[in-house]
Amino acid sequence: MNKEILEKLTADYGDAFYVLDTEQFRKNFSELKAEFSKIYSNFNIAYSYKTNYTPKLCRTVNEMGGYAEVVSDMEMEIALRVGVKPEKIIWNGPYKNYKKVEELLIIGGTVNLDSVYEIQKIRNIAERYPRHTLNIGIRVNFDIGDGVTSRFGFDIESEDFENVLRLINETGNLNLIGIQCHFATRRLDTWKPRAEKMLALLDRLNLKPPHIDLGGGLFGKMDESLKVQFDSAIPDYKEYAEAVAPVFAEYYKDCKDKPLLLIEPGSALVGDCMKFASKVVNIKEVRGKAIATLLGSIYNINPTLNKKNPPIKVYNTGVEQKHYSDLDFGGFTCIESDYLYRNYSGKLAQGDTVVFGNVGSYSVVLKPPFILPNFPVIEISDKGCELIKRAEVFEDLFHTFSF
Ligand SMILES: Cc1ncc(COP(=O)(O)O)c(C=O)c1O
Repeated sequence: MNKEILEKLTADYGDAFYVLDTEQFRKNFSELKAEFSKIYSNFNIAYSYKTNYTPKLCRTVNEMGGYAEVVSDMEMEIALRVGVKPEKIIWNGPYKNYKKVEELLIIGGTVNLDSVYEIQKIRNIAERYPRHTLNIGIRVNFDIGDGVTSRFGFDIESEDFENVLRLINETGNLNLIGIQCHFATRRLDTWKPRAEKMLALLDRLNLKPPHIDLGGGLFGKMDESLKVQFDSAIPDYKEYAEAVAPVFAEYYKDCKDKPLLLIEPGSALVGDCMKFASKVVNIKEVRGKAIATLLGSIYNINPTLNKKNPPIKVYNTGVEQKHYSDLDFGGFTCIESDYLYRNYSGKLAQGDTVVFGNVGSYSVVLKPPFILPNFPVIEISDKGCELIKRAEVFEDLFHTFSF
């Protein structure tokens, strides 16, 4: 990224756009996979589509041999369209469209149950397709000492959990393919308990399912300026692998057909693979406070509103710069709290381009159609520019309304 490239992109695509880096995504995928596989060889990654379902990224995961972790029929459709084989699709989530679930099950995909109400629906499908073996997983829920009572999955001490296991066992054509858990806390110290508690559960049940899935919830790579804003250390891929994989390697050391260990990272793979560039529309001062308005919004880069300042770089594509202290970058919306970055100190001018890093996860997929449609996504490589997603226009947002 440099001033000349930015000016060229602005001329071609407008004053605000995302820049995708699929090469970095590939690198992250292979590094993360290698760290776990070194210690426990039967390992794979199921990419969490919801985090950033840009089809090029989903296709890349498939080309690299990974699985697709989907939570809606929309995401299942993406997986099938980019060529993922059904046996590599895992459907999680508290709500599922059972028409689509049926389609996935009969072509060989996996559906993880989240609550007891789903079992009857699954049994109905099983009855209607007696010649098909349906792959079912169970999402489990236990305490990993992170202070959160997760609302997802089956409490492993509950009667519901016993019932769901019994009902799967009693239904001849249901295959319990996996046990899965997911906890959102990314802290390293929560990872060993996931592994140990999962194996303790399987031990108690005397079960060796083909898949054991520990979900997502890993930090990804980030600049030092972002790391210091978290109240826990930011582990690297190796540290996560070393917390988890040895527990599996030891437990299954004498086992010939070791279960496949899966994780479902989203942010850890894609966070650092997107940047967002936006032009400074104006700079003003209000009661001594310097504020720049951008053609961009917090909803473009961080719709989860986590209040962190992303890595930032300013390019002088505008008029002559001045030095500012404690300047805040505000967004184009009319929401008072719409700030992309607080307390910038440095040079800036109207017309400059501000580039925010680490905007790959929960950004394009969460941007609301509020005030402005979303900006294009571009990829730059040796071969030139590739338009990954064109800019949204009025029609994209309004053709579902009746005028
Ligand atoms: C079931 C499941 N798996 C994976 C993920 C991805 O999480 P992360 O982006 O933290 O890795 C999520 C996120 O909510 C999830 O719900």
